[in-house]
Amino acid sequence: MQKHVYIETYGCQMNVNDSEVVAAILDKEGYAYTEDISIAHLILINTCSIRENAENKVFQRLQEIKKLRKLNESLLIGVIGCMAERLRDQLFSLDVLTDIVAGPDSYRDLPNLVSIAERSKQAINVHLSSTETYDDIMPYRVGNNRISTFVSIMRGCNNFCSYCIVPYTRGRERSRDVESILQEVTEAVSLGYKEITLLGQNVNSYNLEFQDSVIRFPELLARVAREVPETRIRFTTSHPKDMDDKLLHVMASYHNICKWIHLPVQSGSSTVLNKMERSYDREWYMQRVQAIRTILPDASITSDIIAGFCGETEEDHKDTISLMKWAKFDLSYMFKYSERPGTNAARDYNDDVPEEVKARRLQEIITVQKEISAEQNKRDIGKTFEVLIEGFSKKSSDELKGRNSQNKTIVFPKKQAKVGEYVMVKVTDANSATLKGEIVDPT
Ligand code: 5AD
Ligand code: SF4
Repeated sequence: MQKHVYIETYGCQMNVNDSEVVAAILDKEGYAYTEDISIAHLILINTCSIRENAENKVFQRLQEIKKLRKLNESLLIGVIGCMAERLRDQLFSLDVLTDIVAGPDSYRDLPNLVSIAERSKQAINVHLSSTETYDDIMPYRVGNNRISTFVSIMRGCNNFCSYCIVPYTRGRERSRDVESILQEVTEAVSLGYKEITLLGQNVNSYNLEFQDSVIRFPELLARVAREVPETRIRFTTSHPKDMDDKLLHVMASYHNICKWIHLPVQSGSSTVLNKMERSYDREWYMQRVQAIRTILPDASITSDIIAGFCGETEEDHKDTISLMKWAKFDLSYMFKYSERPGTNAARDYNDDVPEEVKARRLQEIITVQKEISAEQNKRDIGKTFEVLIEGFSKKSSDELKGRNSQNKTIVFPKKQAKVGEYVMVKVTDANSATLKGEIVDPT
């Protein structure tokens, strides 16, 4: 009988990509991937530890999944990814059902862990590697919409920002071999994908020693862009500390590299940035934004911001708001600080901003960002963009949606256009979340 694995993914795009690596590994061992949980013999939850509420969401889901075991005694349940790495064998003693615990670097061992679990034993591997990049594994690309996909170029993180759990859950930074990246990119294109996002915790520190030379991110990006000149290339995430002008010049030189930079600032206060161990200050960040505006005047810039980090004063918070207004982020992901056990911040500082103050500051930055996004999007009215059509709009089957190079979603009447095509769209209206437009003749 065919066995099936169902994988549910929480957290970042890296996790989405990892789930595809896991699906490919298990497929070879006879576990076919399914999106129907009711026929699964093995359920894997790929988890995220970035904030406490990310973990709580997973715990809630595990409670629901526990009930499925009542219907099927031989069902195997595995917790994989960042929570597996962080909580390790504690997961076996918590009030959830777990047969398998596998950290982000032990996915090759999953077939073995599954066979141990099949013999009614708890199986765990949370070993972190300094070399694993899964570079020979072609991810099993999930979903039938072959338009946009991800290729991981590095794993782990060496930055140790004081608030962040990632270096502990994903281990040391390692860059993937260039040839295997190019091969995966080419294969994705031959499968029909039209847009590829290169993924890494900090793509700017991509660093591969190769023969007598070192390949860094700008060279890698240029090589990928040349390899598949008809395919859109994006990348995320950039760390401001090492995002240099060379990268911006490469972006300007290739039409197929999208003009979008996700450049998380985290805070607009140099005091807070210093405590966050971000290795840059407010002035450095502003100077990076200035460089983007000069070299890539059409680029969009997006950010991540944390409200209420340890010791954050009202003055620091105002600095964040003033920086947001100055930088004019097209969009930001905003979060309340959540203390993560084992991080430098948990060890060195008190999580001393009261919950209601964090909530109020978060609300304030959300409101400010909404205004800036609306303002930035309104500036696009009257402009024409090349849009890769990704599907139908949520509201109507007469409307399509897609993204422009700047990663902004545009909704427009469908006319003769089809999903997967590129069309030129003139923006006619905008709010803080979406642009509306109409297809225009490319000439
Ligand atoms: N609390 C709140 N937000 C966090 N992030 C990372 N760690 C924490 C934390 N402990 C945010 C950062 C990061 C994004 C992925 O998540 O803004 O860029
Ligand atoms: Fe991704 Fe970070 Fe969450 Fe891990 S902790 S899944 S690296 S966002």
